[in-house]
Amino acid sequence: MTVLGIETSCDETSAAVVRDGKLLSNVIASQDFHSRYGGIVPELASRAHQRLIVPVVDEALAKAGITSAELGGVAAVHGPGLIGSLLVGLSFGKTYAYGLGIPFVGVNHMEAHIFSNLIDEPRPEFPFVNLTVSGGHTQLVAVSDLFQYEMLGETLDDAAGEAFDKVAKMLGLGYPGGPAIDRLAREGNPAAIRFPRPFLNDASFSFSFSGLKTSVLYHLKSSGLDGQSLAQTAQLRDIAASFQQAVVDVLVGKTMRAARERRVRSVAVAGGVAANSALRRAFEHATGERGLKLFFPRMEFCTDNGAMVALAGHEKLERGITSRFELAARPNLELS
Ligand code: KG4
Ligand code: ZN
Repeated sequence: MTVLGIETSCDETSAAVVRDGKLLSNVIASQDFHSRYGGIVPELASRAHQRLIVPVVDEALAKAGITSAELGGVAAVHGPGLIGSLLVGLSFGKTYAYGLGIPFVGVNHMEAHIFSNLIDEPRPEFPFVNLTVSGGHTQLVAVSDLFQYEMLGETLDDAAGEAFDKVAKMLGLGYPGGPAIDRLAREGNPAAIRFPRPFLNDASFSFSFSGLKTSVLYHLKSSGLDGQSLAQTAQLRDIAASFQQAVVDVLVGKTMRAARERRVRSVAVAGGVAANSALRRAFEHATGERGLKLFFPRMEFCTDNGAMVALAGHEKLERGITSRFELAARPNLELS
């Protein structure tokens, strides 16, 4: 079966083709212009999706070396995400499938992130624990089997990537802030400032990053620092490294406890923040010590992409799971 997957939940317009579980193409058009506004402007994002969706899908088919007549199904994300953005990919996907007379299936964006670790070999074996860390979400999920998820914990306020972006803004770095902090932190001292590790020793698997962000703000205020005075100083690198270390300690600590309690042999990490080099190193160390297998997606599958949607859709369609054409876009869709 050959499936087209479409992702437009936020600011990436992406389409991919999967045939018999194998990825044939993955085209991502990133809307870089949002950096000018210091964050994503929802209305501009949906208009850009409208402009980009047809050329991106055409390119995905061309790169896969197929025509639309060879497609056996279409999958598109129907939530969670920005409503205007979701509507573009979902409406396109449903219409395309209807026009071709082939089945359609809606995919949960957070479920798709879990599938980003199933694209390449080797793949985690069930059951495994999955941590998805992105600009909009921080979720720790026990995956017992295909499509079988148990939500262990989520963030109560800011997502991990959002904390990176907000702290980067305070430090006078651009948007998105994660890559900038990652780069600066490599030359900084992660033990220079002892920022809090929110909820690290809490019995739940919930996360909270808003207080950590405020701690960075207080540190800047009490030291009389701002973005401009910080530019290129050693202090800037130390703050970036210390903040990043606090986030990494919490993410790794909680995930490893979940792995222990759930007695799994594999740990998977997904989402934009999974690109973070310190997070990768810390997970390699922690899983290595305990003899667990660790899975990170290829860099291009960390941030939002159509490949993970096409694969999730392929697995569903192959098992006869389809959606009605009435399927609605749901900005707050839960993983169930
Ligand atoms: O998964 P994604 O592309 O979009 C959402 O679904 O939200 O994730 C984007 C987030 C941004 O907050 C960005 O700052 C963060 O991922 N990010 C990083 C790194 N690369 C991207 N955070 C930390 N370190 C990185 N290297
Ligand atoms: Zn995402």
